[in-house]
Amino acid sequence: MTTAHPGLPQFGRPAEELPDELRAMTAHDLPTRGGRTTAYTYDAGRPDVREAAERAYLAMLDVNGLDPTAFPSIVALERRVVGAVATRLGGDDGTPGIFTSGGTESILLAVKAARDCRPGIAEPEIVVPATAHAAFFKAGRYLKVKVVAVPVDPGTFRAVPAAMAAACTSNTVLVVASAPSYAHGVVDPVTEIAADAAGRGLPCHVDACVGGWLLPWLAEAGAAVPEFDLSVPGVTSLSCDLHKFGYAPKGASVLLFRDRPMRLAAYFACAQWPGYPVVNSTVQSSKGAGPLAAAWATLQVLGADGYRELGRAALTATRRLIAGVDTIDGLRVLGSPDATLVALGTDDAALDLWELADETRARGFFLQPQLSVAGLPASLHLTLTGVSELGVDGLLDALREAVAAVGARGPVAPPTELLALLDQFDLTDLDDATLAALLPAAGFGPARMAGVNRLLDALPPELRDQLATRFLSALYSPYLEQN
Ligand SMILES: Cc1ncc(COP(=O)(O)O)c(C=O)c1O
Repeated sequence: MTTAHPGLPQFGRPAEELPDELRAMTAHDLPTRGGRTTAYTYDAGRPDVREAAERAYLAMLDVNGLDPTAFPSIVALERRVVGAVATRLGGDDGTPGIFTSGGTESILLAVKAARDCRPGIAEPEIVVPATAHAAFFKAGRYLKVKVVAVPVDPGTFRAVPAAMAAACTSNTVLVVASAPSYAHGVVDPVTEIAADAAGRGLPCHVDACVGGWLLPWLAEAGAAVPEFDLSVPGVTSLSCDLHKFGYAPKGASVLLFRDRPMRLAAYFACAQWPGYPVVNSTVQSSKGAGPLAAAWATLQVLGADGYRELGRAALTATRRLIAGVDTIDGLRVLGSPDATLVALGTDDAALDLWELADETRARGFFLQPQLSVAGLPASLHLTLTGVSELGVDGLLDALREAVAAVGARGPVAPPTELLALLDQFDLTDLDDATLAALLPAAGFGPARMAGVNRLLDALPPELRDQLATRFLSALYSPYLEQN
C-alpha cells in the first residue's frame, strides 16, 4: 500500500525544486531518446529539431484551439501543416484536412465522418483487416459502429481484397486498409481494396498513421513501396501521424479527406445551449496549440532532406536487423515488412517470447509484446527510426544473449493455475485490491511483464479486454506500486 503523495501544497513551492522531482519520477520510465525503446518513441537524434519544437510549443502554449476566429494563428498553422502533408501524400495545398491530437483521434473522426455521411444506415458497419489498429475497434465502440474484422493472409499478414469485398454489406459505411499495419509493418493492397470499395460506392480510409510520413522517404531511399496515398483512386481519407515518423512531439496527426463534404461530416457544432456557439473539427474542444506549433516547427527544421536522411538511416537499420535476426536460431521475422516496423516470432516452443521481451529489456532494449489473435502468432514488435542505425548491433547482441538465456530455461508452462483461479471470479466484479493481490502470482513486478502477457495471451479476446481494464484500474489504485 502506498502512502499518499501530497498533491496540492498548502503554500506555493519554489519552482526550482520541481525539475528534480520530475526527474526522480521519470527515472524508471523507458528512455525516450537513443532508439533503445523500439516502440512509443520516435527520436530524430537532432537536438536542433527538438529545440525548435520546444520553442514553438512554448510560444503557443497559451493559445486555445477552441476558437480559430479568436486565434487565427491556429488556422494559418494548420493550413501549412495539413498542406505540407497533403502535398506529399497525393493531394495538394487545397486538400481538406484536420490536425488532430493523434492517430486514434484521426481514426475516430474518419469513422464518424463515414458514418455520418450515410445517415440512412441504422446499424452501420466498417470492414477492416484483422490487422487494423485497435483504434478502429475503439471508434466502433465509441461511435456504435460494428467492426467487421476480416482475416488476413496468414503468410504475408496483408489484407485479402476478395475477403474484404465479401465482407461488405448494405450496412457498410467504410472500408479500411493499413499502410502499413502496426503489428507487422506490411502495406495492405490499397489499390485493389480502394478500387473495389469505389465500385460499391463505399469510401475507403487508409490508416497511414505510422507509415504516412515514413513510406515516401523509404521510397526515395530505394525501397519498394506499394501505392497507398490519396493519389490511389478510391482512397477517400487518410490518417498520417506527425508524432510518429514526423518526429514531432506527441499530440500531432493529420487526417486528410478527398472531398470537403466528408470533412464536414467529421465536424461537430452545437449552438443549442446558452453559452458560446461550439464548432469543432476535433474531439477536443479547448486544446493547446503547442503540438500544432511544434509539429510545424519540426517540419520546417527537418525539411525534406532531413526526413530523407532519417528514412535512409531507418531503412538501413531495418535491413541490418532483419539480416541479423536471420542468424539467430529460433527467431524469425513475420512476413516481409514494407516499412521499418518488424515483428519477431518463433516456431520454437522452448523460446517463450514474453520471457524474451523481459530479458531483452533487462539488457537495455525494450521490445513490445504483441498477443496472438485471429489465427496470427504472437510476436515482439520493433519500430526502427532515424537513430536506430547506431544501436542495431547492440540490439542484435542483446537479442542473441536473451534468446540464449530464455532458450536455456526451456518451455514455460501455460498459466493453468492462474486461469483456474481467475475462472472463479466474475471479471466484471474484480476489484483493484483483489487483482493487485493476484498479480504477483502472475509474475508481475518492475519491468517484469512476462507473466501478465502470458496470461493475457491465454485468455479469449473479450476476457483479455476485461482483465486489461481491471489491470489499469489497479495500476491507478493505492494497491499497486510499479517502482
Ligand atoms: C497504424 C496505426 N494506426 C493508428 C495508431 C494509433 O495512433 P495513436 O497512438 O497516435 O493514437 C497507430 C499507433 O501506433 C498506428 O501504428
